[in-house]
Amino acid sequence: MKVLVTGGAGFIGRWVVKRLLQEGHEAWVLDNLDNGREFNIEEFRGNPLFREFVKGDVVSEDTVFRLFEEGFDLCFHLAAQINVHESLENPQKAYKVNVLGTYNILEAARKRGIKIVLLGTCMVYDPASGDYRISETHPVKPASPYAGSKLAAENLAESYFHGFGLPVVICRPFNTYGPFQKSNMEGGVVSIFIERTLKGEDLLVFGDGTQTRDLLYAEDCADFLYKAAVAPGVDGEILNAGLGMDIPIKDLALKVCGDKGKIKFVPHHHPQSEIKKLVCDFSKAKKMLGWRPLVSLDEGIELTRKWIAGSAKNSSR
Ligand SMILES: NC(=O)c1ccc[n+]([C@@H]2O[C@H](COP(=O)([O-])OP(=O)(O)OC[C@H]3O[C@@H](n4cnc5c(N)ncnc54)[C@H](O)[C@@H]3O)[C@@H](O)[C@H]2O)c1
Repeated sequence: MKVLVTGGAGFIGRWVVKRLLQEGHEAWVLDNLDNGREFNIEEFRGNPLFREFVKGDVVSEDTVFRLFEEGFDLCFHLAAQINVHESLENPQKAYKVNVLGTYNILEAARKRGIKIVLLGTCMVYDPASGDYRISETHPVKPASPYAGSKLAAENLAESYFHGFGLPVVICRPFNTYGPFQKSNMEGGVVSIFIERTLKGEDLLVFGDGTQTRDLLYAEDCADFLYKAAVAPGVDGEILNAGLGMDIPIKDLALKVCGDKGKIKFVPHHHPQSEIKKLVCDFSKAKKMLGWRPLVSLDEGIELTRKWIAGSAKNSSR
């Protein structure tokens, strides 16, 4: 297949590109490098299946429409403004990139009947309501413009499925981590904790650290997205993926650094947008895609630690 990955120079996107190339598909990347890096896709250069990196913005209708003239068979839409804090400070950017950008992708896909795998997020769920494990039928309550704009994008995509019959599948991974994730504030908690540990710095935990996360390893996430793209009978569906178990952030900090004295508790910037407990129920993805996570949290942390320690370029972020 000819496949476009928007946000393909980002953390999860580059793992999707890697998987596509491994499966023998041709891949194109559209990314404006707002949070991505060419370094993330460097290893694909020279692979004849890696067709092109287009530095461009999904908010530009012209860029998106021109690129779709390539005649793709499939598009993974990952390009997004992903930072919760930034979205609370600049909601307009979250709206433009996450809603208008998705609209452009859907419109371009509609003209050619191209399947879209849309990245949603677990941040849309109402953590205080319902069962302990969060399934796709769990109530939603977006608590930041990031979550609100991602949910709006999902709704738009669903309307293209129901209204135009566009094949769309909505994937909601839980917190994803692994090699190539940034370890600055746009990054993820696992990479941040590992990098600070390697530098001998204290680990800063927001609030009392009892908030929990369900952490999904990057290649398991890419496997989930790939399976959602190729499995039959999933158009119009919403699917969750996670490890299926959670860990309090203070326990994660201790697991990474092994020293309670290195953990410092600091006030949360935006406590109103903090999610207290997140645990994924992935039974729908297991049933419909035959997917389950293969990498344990301990294994994933070690793989990430090795990558951060071994990558000189990485430490310059
Ligand atoms: N990381 C997670 O834990 C997680 C969990 C659930 C869902 N997601 C979703 O997965 C997707 C990828 O997230 P990620 O963690 O890899 O983040 P990321 O920031 O590394 O990837 C997003 C990519 O999109 C690019 N981008 C941003 N704005 C753009 C624009 N206007 N035009 C073109 N490209 C643009 C960025 O440069 C970046 O490379 C996002 O849609 C995010 O909402 C992430």
